[in-house]
Amino acid sequence: MKTLLFFLLLLSLCFTNDIKVTQSAQYTGDRLTQKDEINFSNKAENNLKIQIDPTKTYQNITGFGGAFTEACAVNFLKLSSDLQNEIFSQYFHNIGYSLCRVHINSCDFSESSYSFDDTVNDYSLSSWSLNNGHDPKTLIPLIKKALTFNPNLQIYGSPWSPPAWMKGNNEMCHSSYPGLKADSRIHQAWALYFSKWISAYKQSGIPIWGLTIQNEPEFAAPWEACIYTPDQEADFLAQYLGPQIKHDHPEIKIMIYDHNKDHLETWANTIFSRSDASKFADGVAFHWYSGSQFENVKNVYDNWGDKFFLLATEACVCPATGFQDWNRGEQYGYDIIGDLNSGSVGWVDWNMCLNMQGGPNHLGNNCGSPVMVDADSNPQTITFTTPFYYMGQISKFLKPGSTILDTQIINGDENLIAVTGQTLDKKIVVVVQNQNDSERNFDLVYRNKIANISMPQHSITSFVFDA
Ligand SMILES: *[C@@H]1O[C@H](CO)[C@@H](O)[C@H](O)[C@H]1NC(C)=O
Ligand SMILES: *[C@@H]1O[C@H](CO)[C@@H](O)[C@H](O)[C@H]1NC(C)=O
Ligand SMILES: *[C@@H]1O[C@H](CO)[C@@H](O)[C@H](O)[C@H]1NC(C)=O
Ligand SMILES: *[C@@H]1O[C@H](CO)[C@@H](O)[C@H](O)[C@H]1NC(C)=O
Repeated sequence: MKTLLFFLLLLSLCFTNDIKVTQSAQYTGDRLTQKDEINFSNKAENNLKIQIDPTKTYQNITGFGGAFTEACAVNFLKLSSDLQNEIFSQYFHNIGYSLCRVHINSCDFSESSYSFDDTVNDYSLSSWSLNNGHDPKTLIPLIKKALTFNPNLQIYGSPWSPPAWMKGNNEMCHSSYPGLKADSRIHQAWALYFSKWISAYKQSGIPIWGLTIQNEPEFAAPWEACIYTPDQEADFLAQYLGPQIKHDHPEIKIMIYDHNKDHLETWANTIFSRSDASKFADGVAFHWYSGSQFENVKNVYDNWGDKFFLLATEACVCPATGFQDWNRGEQYGYDIIGDLNSGSVGWVDWNMCLNMQGGPNHLGNNCGSPVMVDADSNPQTITFTTPFYYMGQISKFLKPGSTILDTQIINGDENLIAVTGQTLDKKIVVVVQNQNDSERNFDLVYRNKIANISMPQHSITSFVFDA
């Protein structure tokens, strides 16, 4: 009798390994919708297979999130507190945002250009003040509200431009080559400026986790910009920014580059090879606007991933028209899955909410956002767009600390993609995106277990089961 009970217990241990299923699918009402559980069997059904190898492990996840911008703040702060709470409980509670970005000084998604010290040649920054009519009214209340939803948010700052007086072209928009004036007092003052910004945010109750040195250092944009070559950025890090931050805020993570994947390898190879600069660097940040280029991410991971982390720090789809297109969500899913499979420790979206025109943006560079806000209509409305669901299908389940595992797709094609991670509480998370115009049936294979899965056309599904 005892043996029989033991046997039954063993049997049930083998076969109660049910799979929890959450799905978003076009042409259905499914939006992060929990579906019926699926049971593993041990019988192969399909030629198409998604096979997990839990013995091959890669990077750990730091987190997912979006950016606090002035544009987001002015839209958000006009909303009723119910709608504000709805947006932030969706981002921070439902889909688990934990890693967010904020701009230092203005960016294009600000109402106008501004800095915290416009006193020309104030090398000691004695006039530096957070009270410039912007951050205390916009970003600070927005982020403090976010911290009530997730008190452990990891926040990194990125400047688009130093104050005009530090730049060769004497304005915040556009850039000379290089952007900063060739004057060591200016470089020293700009390094000190980062440190003062971190201190001022800390004093406002907002802890800062990291920095990128310059947003898009190759782009002399029509909006706030500042050009560096890889060696110029390495010089600034080695001689000014690195020593200043190490001395004042040693816990801060410093990321180099923060621009498109096309030149990721050149920047990583140049700066990480220079010991004077790389000793102050923790990671490399990149954007998606030059295309998916996952092989560039993978090459940097293979060459440098043991010493430096890789993080996708900005993405969005522009313009704002068509923000409900399903394809926009698929673009997010495709890039997030590809980056995670190539070594990225997370993925951070751009503006967390924009108005119905995709702004405000002081240069009209309007874009879509996962949450589009109409604060001026009566009643006010908020709209969750397809990028929200595609991001959420991944960020909700691949919690910080998860380890990316090897995923092989057998007999597949470019329209079926997948990423797998193991969470700290020993769950396996497999996220599969079907970009095909038809339903796909496949075997999900984990160790000696097989599940017969069917996914509808244009869908993304998260499968969660015990490791
Ligand atoms: C999965 O197995 C459980 C028993 O472990 C059973 O109750 C359930 O009906 C099964 N589900 C399916 C979809 O077969
Ligand atoms: C991932 O995290 C685990 C602890 O959860 C740790 O043992 C392992 O070394 C980490 N791996 C990497 C690549 O950082
Ligand atoms: C779509 O799926 C079908 C099978 O379900 C497959 O034959 C076809 O090659 C796929 N199309 C593309 C473009 O991947
Ligand atoms: C596998 O899934 C497909 C699609 O849902 C279904 O037609 C087929 O009957 C399933 N096979 C088994 C053995 O359940």
